[in-house]
Amino acid sequence: MEIAFYGDKFVDINEKVIPIQERGHQFGDGIYEVIRVYNGTPFLLNEHLERLENSAKAIMLQLPTTIEELKQIINEGLQKTEFTEVEIYIQITRGIAPRAHLFPTVSSELSMTFKNARIVDKDKREKGVTVTLMEDERWKNCYIKSLNLLPNVLAKQKAASEGHEEAILVRDGFITEGSSSNIFVVKEGTLYTTPASIQILHGITRAAVIKLANKMNIPFEEMKFDVSFLKQCDEAFITSTSVEVLPISKIDEVELSADRPIVDTLKVEFQNLYL
Ligand code: PDD
Repeated sequence: MEIAFYGDKFVDINEKVIPIQERGHQFGDGIYEVIRVYNGTPFLLNEHLERLENSAKAIMLQLPTTIEELKQIINEGLQKTEFTEVEIYIQITRGIAPRAHLFPTVSSELSMTFKNARIVDKDKREKGVTVTLMEDERWKNCYIKSLNLLPNVLAKQKAASEGHEEAILVRDGFITEGSSSNIFVVKEGTLYTTPASIQILHGITRAAVIKLANKMNIPFEEMKFDVSFLKQCDEAFITSTSVEVLPISKIDEVELSADRPIVDTLKVEFQNLYL
């Protein structure tokens, strides 16, 4: 059963529970996390909760519960839903107050959903997906997992309308990340990804892949790279909580080779982390 949580209780996922004066609803004033549950166990939970705390700090938001309490609600939610492959969505907003830009004095509000995880199509996971390059029109603090996702939504929609899986964003000629993923490329045996600056979300999957690459002695470098470097790469892939390690087969008009030794290795090694 898909279920939700709002404020201090579990609710039906289809129930209309968000008050009109919710700041998440009125200003997008809040933060979120997406956590994948494999076989009943939340994957990289501490890492996600640590990032949630960091996002909260960055927007001067006080969490409504302790991390321990949050973990208890997560466990309770997992018991209530009968699914074992779950996508947990956590959202924390600056609370419910008459609409005014200044911070209210009320407590922040927690909402969560526990849904059956979306599984990436087997064919896509094997053959890869196509991506399209697009201008990165977001604000400067993309390391914060903020609720303000309008530029990401518009980029993803435009990419999909042109038949692509993901929009790869470009700022000042350099690749930042995908609209809802990080990007890696392989060139002459070395694995590269955009540095974890304020311009990108510091993906939990990204960090796990970097750790794996180090463990497997795959040469790795965090490096800013431009559009032509990307288009001339040997292999490329995107990472996120929902897509894990997903190969890229084509970047706009540029077709990549179907021979992807490093992506294939990392894909399998990543799955081994939760199997
Ligand atoms: N998106 N970059 C952006 C802009 C993202 O929105 C995401 C995740 C990532 C990958 O982060 P992680 O590996 O921690 O999931 C990178 C989530 C899944 C979402 O918004 O649904």
